[in-house]
Amino acid sequence: MCGIVGYLGEKNIKEILLEGLKELEYRGYDSAGIAVLNNGEFSNFKAVGKLINLEEKTKNFTTDGFAIGIGHTRWATHGKPTELNAHPHLGESSYVVHNGIIENYAELKKELIAEGVTFLSQTDTEVIVHQFEKNLKSAKNAFEAFEKTIKELEGAYAILLVTKEEDGTIFFAKNGSPMLVGIDSDGDKYFASSDTPLIGHCSDVSYFDDGDYGYVTKESITIFDKDGHTKQPRFQKLSTNKLSAQKDGYRFFMEKEIYEQSDVITDTLLGRLSHDEVVFEELESSLFDNINEIKFCACGTSYHSALVASYMFERYAKIKTSVEVASEFRYREPIMTKDTLFIVISQSGETADTLETLKMAKAAGLKTLVVCNVDNSSMVRLADATILTRAGVEKGVASTKAFATQVVVFWMLSLYLSKHNSTLSTEEIAQQVQLLREVPASVKVEDAMHERIKRLSKRYLHGHGFFFIGRDLFYPLALEGALKLKEISYLHAEGYPSGEMKHGPIALADPELFTIALLPEHLLYEKSKSNVEELSARDSTICAISPLEFDKADDYIQTKKQKSYMLEFFEMMVVVQLLSLEISVRLGNDVDMPRNLAKSVTVE
Ligand code: G6P
Repeated sequence: MCGIVGYLGEKNIKEILLEGLKELEYRGYDSAGIAVLNNGEFSNFKAVGKLINLEEKTKNFTTDGFAIGIGHTRWATHGKPTELNAHPHLGESSYVVHNGIIENYAELKKELIAEGVTFLSQTDTEVIVHQFEKNLKSAKNAFEAFEKTIKELEGAYAILLVTKEEDGTIFFAKNGSPMLVGIDSDGDKYFASSDTPLIGHCSDVSYFDDGDYGYVTKESITIFDKDGHTKQPRFQKLSTNKLSAQKDGYRFFMEKEIYEQSDVITDTLLGRLSHDEVVFEELESSLFDNINEIKFCACGTSYHSALVASYMFERYAKIKTSVEVASEFRYREPIMTKDTLFIVISQSGETADTLETLKMAKAAGLKTLVVCNVDNSSMVRLADATILTRAGVEKGVASTKAFATQVVVFWMLSLYLSKHNSTLSTEEIAQQVQLLREVPASVKVEDAMHERIKRLSKRYLHGHGFFFIGRDLFYPLALEGALKLKEISYLHAEGYPSGEMKHGPIALADPELFTIALLPEHLLYEKSKSNVEELSARDSTICAISPLEFDKADDYIQTKKQKSYMLEFFEMMVVVQLLSLEISVRLGNDVDMPRNLAKSVTVE
């Protein structure tokens, strides 16, 4: 996702900003830019693509003595990855960089346009700088205008703003997106959206809290809390290890990404929920007109999220669905009719088989939609419509947060279509919108749960196989749990529909066959339970995951009582991810880079 850096001092500002942005590269980006204020004059550079393009543009740029500057790597959310959409964004005499999403940007933009302001970009960010300059006209000073602006913004943000009005000051604000300030031995100030750019420059840093805003000058750091009271920076020592800083103290990227799910799902939902409906600004309202069927096509984990989607679309939106493995679909001479919406799902947007099916659907004249994590990827460029999952860069080869955000997008999209098809009432949709808001809390990893799974994992390091079983949309979750386990533990695991075990696999049942049973309270509990009892009677070793205690299980991971099976789904998703992780750790495997696997498979 996007990254921010800032600097105020007398050192080589261009190098500090560019090096800082380089340290944020691992988060993923599709354009970058810097703005520097030196001797009362601004210099601004932006480039699409890799940082080398920005370095090329700034080749002949030098500064002299004290300067202030801000920089940004952008991962497109509102508007394509173009130079105009890249940050910093300019007003008349000020520049801003921003991470997060300004939810009320459309209203603010409308008012500003009515007042004669011209917008250059399609971003939500640009409203910040224009709103600031509008407020500047009536404010006593730049800080008063900045403070007023912050109070007018809704949503999540980390913001740095510089203005000619006060050419020795950087203004900052943080709410929901991370940001910290650091100081070096000469008293120069540094900003960044994560600590890696500051390693090597600052020994002490202070992390801002949500609601903090203020300004820094050569002499001081002034911070206000959300109620406008001044507060002191809380400096702490900064680690000197860059790789561990990127992992934020977690042992593996996969672990970090499991823990991040609550935050990235919040990003997925941002701006897409009103109180009683789902809003997808990126979709034309006619997308579903004349559509009688939806065909989903994907590979790997993305295929599993498509299976989850098919249950939700049929149940809520009452539309016929089919789900295809891309490598099969492309060679089986499928029948494609124009009343079918073709949806491809891909974390990377580059998977060769999935991309090929998208081309086939386009050639057959079908409407196409991609649910993807990477803007400007091949699939995004090709599909008629795109919904970005906003999971941020996923480094662990075993996908976790990408899957979670895909399912959230599909849940939202199925409700969006339910409204279009009038298959759910306004009240029913409003209830589900409320549940969607609770997903970030349902995937928060609690220490006690993680500890329990860590302890239990030692019992599951051998055996002749694992069956993950579930019913309804817990069946694709079982498939995904089994895939996670086999990917990183190299143990044999299969996902199976609970009711299907007796039609073959139960022949394998013995104490060395491990059954991981997904037993949600609110979806077919009794039916699933009796399937597990059948296995227990044949002496299979059972690990039950459920909010309800189950006396036939050998092991039991108790999940929370939830209001809905959808929230149970998300909590159980975290449990199976952690179980795979801990088994793999105990087996001494490379969790982030499992043998024989690649993160993005761009060959057939
Ligand atoms: C590879 C990865 C999987 C991923 C699959 C599809 O096999 O190892 O984790 O699910 O590709 O990738 P996509 O980027 O299309 O979602």
